[in-house]
Amino acid sequence: FQPKFLAGLKLLVTAGPTFERIDAVRGITNSSSGKMGYAIARAAFEAGAEVTLISGPTMLPTPTGVRRIDTVSAQDMLAAVNGEITHQDIFVSVAAVADYYVLNPSEQKIKKDAHILTLELAPNPDILANVASVANPPFCVGFAAESENLLEFAEAKRRRKKLPLLVANLVQTAIGADDNEVILLDDDGQHRLPRANKSDLARSIVKHMARLYNRYHPE
Ligand code: PMT
Repeated sequence: FQPKFLAGLKLLVTAGPTFERIDAVRGITNSSSGKMGYAIARAAFEAGAEVTLISGPTMLPTPTGVRRIDTVSAQDMLAAVNGEITHQDIFVSVAAVADYYVLNPSEQKIKKDAHILTLELAPNPDILANVASVANPPFCVGFAAESENLLEFAEAKRRRKKLPLLVANLVQTAIGADDNEVILLDDDGQHRLPRANKSDLARSIVKHMARLYNRYHPE
C-alpha cells in the first residue's frame, strides 16, 4: 500500500533516450535504458497521479495504469510534450534528450567508401526549459546526469532552467543500472538519497516532489 501523495494530480514524465537519424539505418543517440523514468511513472501512479509517459526508444514494458506515448527524436518528444502539457500539474523530465540532431539526414542508406564522412549537427530544442519558461508552468522537475563536478553542474542547471527541484546523479553509476543513488537539489539545499533500486528510489523522489508541490500550491 502506497500513500496517495499525488491523488487528483496529472503528471507528465519523459523517459529514455532520443534517436536522431543519420540515414535509413543509422543514427546518434544518448545512453539511457529508460529504467529511472519508467520507475518514476510507476511510483507516481502508485501515489495516485494520472500519469502520461512520453518515451524514447526503450525495451521496457509500459507500467500498469500509465498512458504511454512513443517517440523517437527530440523533435518528436517536444511535439508530444507540447500536445500533452496543458492541464498537467507536474512535469518530470527524466529523458536523456540528444543535444544535437543531424541536418539533412539521408533517406537512403549511405554507402561506405574510403572517404571521411562529415555530419552537420544542429542544436535540439530544450524541452524542459521550454516548459519551465511558459506563463504558469506546471511544477517542473529536472534530472541531471554528470560525469564530474556533479553538484556544481547540476545546481547550475537547476538555476538556469528555473526548476524548483532537480535530481542529480552520476553518469558512471546511473545509466542502465537497476539501482542508483541521487542527490535532490531544491531551494532548501541538498538531500542525499542512498543507493537503492530504482523503484524504491523513485518512490522517495515522488514523496519529496509531492511535499514540495504542496508547499508551492497550498490549498
Ligand atoms: O534511463 P536510465 O538508464 O535508467 O538512466 C537514467 C538517467 C541517467 C538517464 C536519468 O537518471 C537522468 O539523469 N536523466 C537526465 C539526463 C541528462 O543529463 O540530462 P541533461 O543534463 O542533458 O538535461 C538536464 C535536464 O533537461 C533533464 O531533465 C533533461 O530531460 C532535460 N532536457 C535536456 C535537453 C533537452 N534538449 N531537452 C530536455 O528536456
